[in-house]
Amino acid sequence: MAVNTAAQAAYIVAALLFILALAGLSKHETAKAGNIFGISGMALALVATIALAMDQDIEGSGLGLLVGATAVGAAIGLQRARVVEMTGMPELIALLHSFVGMAAVMVGWNGYLHVEADLGGVEAQALRAAETLGIHHAEVFIGVFIGAVTFTGSLVAFLKLSARVKSAPMVLPGKNLLNLGALVAFAALTAWFVIEPSLWLLVAVTVIALLLGWHLVASIGGGDMPVVVSMLNSYSGWAAAASGFLLENDLLIITGALVGSSGAYLSYIMCRAMNRSFISVIAGGFGIEAGPGGDKDYGEHREVSAEGVAEMLLNATSVVITPGYGMAVAQAQHGVAELTRKLRDKGVDVRFAIHPVAGRLPGHMNVLLAEAKVPYDVVLEMDEINDDFDGTSVVLVIGANDTVNPAATEDPDSPIAGMPVLRVWEADNVVVFKRTMASGYAGVQNPLFFRDNSAMLFGDAKERVEDILRAL
Ligand code: TAP
Repeated sequence: MAVNTAAQAAYIVAALLFILALAGLSKHETAKAGNIFGISGMALALVATIALAMDQDIEGSGLGLLVGATAVGAAIGLQRARVVEMTGMPELIALLHSFVGMAAVMVGWNGYLHVEADLGGVEAQALRAAETLGIHHAEVFIGVFIGAVTFTGSLVAFLKLSARVKSAPMVLPGKNLLNLGALVAFAALTAWFVIEPSLWLLVAVTVIALLLGWHLVASIGGGDMPVVVSMLNSYSGWAAAASGFLLENDLLIITGALVGSSGAYLSYIMCRAMNRSFISVIAGGFGIEAGPGGDKDYGEHREVSAEGVAEMLLNATSVVITPGYGMAVAQAQHGVAELTRKLRDKGVDVRFAIHPVAGRLPGHMNVLLAEAKVPYDVVLEMDEINDDFDGTSVVLVIGANDTVNPAATEDPDSPIAGMPVLRVWEADNVVVFKRTMASGYAGVQNPLFFRDNSAMLFGDAKERVEDILRAL
């Protein structure tokens, strides 16, 4: 009893620590403290859970399994976190969400099999006595459904983000009806299962949810993937909360709800930043048609050498650097920081323009630039700098593509139409650093490359920046 009370108290403290973690993570300055709160909360929760399990009915072999599973999980987690590159973070997160989904499915199945196998047993009797067997069955069903959607949805997101499958949206005929049909079937099967539970219903809902999760995320195109990752984050929270109800674990319910609602809110903020409809994204690209892909002929592009760019920069009064995913891949941030210092020493006004989804996760560019010690005050958000391109002498687009694509504002048929972009083309000169003429993440051609005031500097961004530094 004493252990139970202590564990419940520890759960409340852990829940508070998780709330402090979220609050801390919302600002640069407090992010580190936020992480420490989160780690402490999770450590406390783990200790309390193990103590609780030991105090209850767990026997020697069960305890061994618990400790063994925790050790194996922790070892894999530590190893993955140490080796993952910043650029590989979103796909790792997507994969981790799929584990949460799978766990929720297993907890649900276990909840059903356990009680069914033991219908005459103490637990089922207790549930029946309290007339909560129906609620229990609903919890099983809902938990399995959300978990299975999260599982396959996250797997597809992982495959798309790691470029193992194409990021273009899959468009099945009547895709919205398919999604709607799956939801209606889920509602009907839930009612059936509550009234008359049976194994085949549970199998059916699992299969429907697995297919729905796959279809929802497969239908969403590359450009909207950042929102999908945070949306799956939200789903994984709800899946965990559903498991919490089933396991009667208050901390899991609270944590799940925190993850679920913060993920939903983040998705909403990102949708606003990208001018996407929130409902359309969570409904698997509802109302978004796949664009023509962009095989339009925009004419010839012009090339420039590193020496040419150095000369352009020396004659410039103002320079804006817009970094993107390619700067992260090339790890060019240190060279870029050095270039910034050199130009500022020569009296050139140098600033950075950061698009909200530049790179592969929110804040990706800010982290890289901070690591390279670029002063915060010259790193500006899109809205702060977008009106200043007109009148800027030179814009250096370093490994960015979709985030500077004029088609988003000028071509209503473009798959990224309506997404706010950095209007770099309004500057006097634009230099685009990339290796080839290939398209960016969203898979659409970029007419910027063919403009009269644009020139391409081909090659690895880090090497080209170093060439410019030498020429300077
Ligand atoms: P992208 O549109 O992906 O373009 C990156 C460009 O970098 C590519 O055109 C690529 O061209 C170039 N590149 C790659 N490696 C390079 C290297 N070593 N040296 C020089 N250039 C290199 O990037 P972006 O403009 O940052 O846009 C982000 C995209 O990712 C958006 O579509 C966004 O929706 C999506 N996304 C964002 C997030 C978040 S939350 N930020 C998460 C997932 C997806 P080459 O191959 O020709 O070199």
